Amino acid sequence: MKIGLLTGGGDCPGLNAVIRAVVRKGTNFYGDQFVGFLEGWRGVLDNKAITLDLAAVEKILPIGGTMLRTSRTNATKQPDGLARIQATLKAQNLDALIAIGGDDTLGVAKKLNDAGVKVVGCPKTIDNDLAGTDFTFGFDTAVGIATECIDRLHTTAESHNRVIVVEVMGRDAGWIAMYAGIAGGADVILVPERPINLDAVCSTIKQQHDRGRLYSIVVVAEGAKVAAGGSGEANVLAAGGVDEFGHARLGGIGNLLASEIEKRTGYETRAAVLGHVQRGGTPSAFDRVLGTRYGLGAIDLAHSGKFGQMVSLKGNKITSIPLAEAVASNRRVDQDLFDVAEGVLDKPLK
Ligand code: F6P
Repeated sequence: MKIGLLTGGGDCPGLNAVIRAVVRKGTNFYGDQFVGFLEGWRGVLDNKAITLDLAAVEKILPIGGTMLRTSRTNATKQPDGLARIQATLKAQNLDALIAIGGDDTLGVAKKLNDAGVKVVGCPKTIDNDLAGTDFTFGFDTAVGIATECIDRLHTTAESHNRVIVVEVMGRDAGWIAMYAGIAGGADVILVPERPINLDAVCSTIKQQHDRGRLYSIVVVAEGAKVAAGGSGEANVLAAGGVDEFGHARLGGIGNLLASEIEKRTGYETRAAVLGHVQRGGTPSAFDRVLGTRYGLGAIDLAHSGKFGQMVSLKGNKITSIPLAEAVASNRRVDQDLFDVAEGVLDKPLK
């Protein structure tokens, strides 16, 4: 077969492991040929591609980001998007596409598959919020980086008797905040799944202080919501406008919380916003292995004709689910993980 690959959405440690695994197994085992489209769906729309052979993927395994680069281009939003993609597939003489991405990229893949294009999906996001798979690669690396940062913030917070609010990524899901918060021994963990109760946050910090623990670490997910006057809860946004998929840019909750905590408790408070540091750099061993397993699964799906499917991890087995199922909803932090956090925190996460 001749197969096209693309990586779309935010970059993510482990993307190169997927590309390498697809190309190695496809070439060595199935005798395939590959092209890699540059910058996500933009490269497919514009027919911007490179040849992917064994030499091209030789040294990419430990490297972060994606050798194909990426973008948040929504190909199906353009009126002539489908026609341009079909023209590219014809011009490249492709039998199938493997789309590596999160819900946005895979949402486009699903629409293309519905329109007759042979597409296989591979889940990717540091946010770990894709439905139908237990873990996405990139998440483990992001949690590892965030945990190391929290470890470091403990010692400076303690030295100064400060509260430090650590803002982590995750969009509308609190997976990174929960895992890094638990691993880093945070005192308070705030996630989008449960609206922030500022009174409860401040009383937890005060109680700690009263019993002689003079510093606190608060981990907050960028998508955690605060009360917004009479209009319920709202996200804090880093900027106006939305991307091509309609997502606003989240960010700022850490600074807002820090100033509220300082005002209400009188304790000196600082915010540390981890931002894109969580996405950059070399993937963890876990993400290299998971990315490799997904890549092998994706090329096998293409060869068994299972188009419209996404590789997925269930338990410790690689399997597949329909793309439609994967993009139907986001996966939020579940009760089991709340139970773990609440087992070690002073106060429930409300
Ligand atoms: O989806 C991955 C993610 O890192 C989110 O956690 C975050 O909200 C968003 O991407 C940031 O996007 P950008 O890189 O476009 O600023």
